[in-house]
Amino acid sequence: MASEPSSITASVTGTALVTGASSGIGATYADRLAGRGYDLILVARDQARLTELATSLSKRYGVKVDTLPADLTERADVRKVEQRLRDDASISLLVNNAGIGPQGPLLDSDPDYLDRMVDLNVFAAHRLAVAAAQVFAARGKGAIISTASVVALAPHFFSGTYVASKAFILSLTESLAGELKNKGVRVQAVLPGLTRTEIFDRAGGSMDGLDPERVMDVGDMVDAALAGFDQGELVTIPSLADAALYQAYETARAALAPHLSLKTPAPRYRA
Ligand SMILES: NC(=O)c1ccc[n+]([C@@H]2O[C@H](COP(=O)([O-])OP(=O)(O)OC[C@H]3O[C@@H](n4cnc5c(N)ncnc54)[C@H](OP(=O)(O)O)[C@@H]3O)[C@@H](O)[C@H]2O)c1
Repeated sequence: MASEPSSITASVTGTALVTGASSGIGATYADRLAGRGYDLILVARDQARLTELATSLSKRYGVKVDTLPADLTERADVRKVEQRLRDDASISLLVNNAGIGPQGPLLDSDPDYLDRMVDLNVFAAHRLAVAAAQVFAARGKGAIISTASVVALAPHFFSGTYVASKAFILSLTESLAGELKNKGVRVQAVLPGLTRTEIFDRAGGSMDGLDPERVMDVGDMVDAALAGFDQGELVTIPSLADAALYQAYETARAALAPHLSLKTPAPRYRA
């Protein structure tokens, strides 16, 4: 879907920096990317889990794996990871993935928890995407994979702060794709549906009551997302069998473009 013209092949070699690498989608990306020959820098808070994963991946795939513990709700830690992105010329791929989910409807939520969600899902993801885009563009190569969510396209599905944080990632990625066109840098927004990870448990919930037909295995999700990356997709929705549906959505959105900013108000708004 929405393939992005690119002058580089999908398999960029070098080092992948993966945020949220201690579990779920991030840990699975780390495994798959190590299998593709990438060296890794694993970022999350839980140093023990990162070390365990680093040891097993380097043993299994023979790649170099570093850990970079960081609490990405803390600005100093975000700066530390940003600095690594800017200084380490071996980094060719950012998997911008760390995130937390909602604890329930927005009206019942603790505003401090929602602030932490914005700090992690928006502020940190934005800061790292900007750093990677700038250094990769200067080097003329690289790629940024960002984990958004299907709720970016379906805001009524979930609580407001979370869906807005994921819409932010989708819009940022789509806009960056325009700026990075012809600079040798690939971007991809991955829009998973429900995926079996720890995300619900961490937010005080559970995936147990969900219809299993609607929940994807995390390995299947990441493999599909990487297949979309290999195909040059800008936006990948792993469960969407009929790609023409997304194409129709994009066509409808593009048809609005000539009407979105004009000198005169629409006739129905005239006094
Ligand atoms: N699972 C789904 O259904 C689903 C659907 C759509 C999109 N997503 C998105 O997928 C991404 C990954 O989530 P997941 O499902 O894999 O959940 P997960 O298993 O809970 O993993 C979340 C990861 O983020 C890290 N993290 C959490 N808070 C952090 C912080 N303050 N600083 C640094 N790292 C932090 C966690 O590591 P530490 O605890 O060690 O810090 C963990 O590695 C998120 O952006 C999520 O919004 C998930």
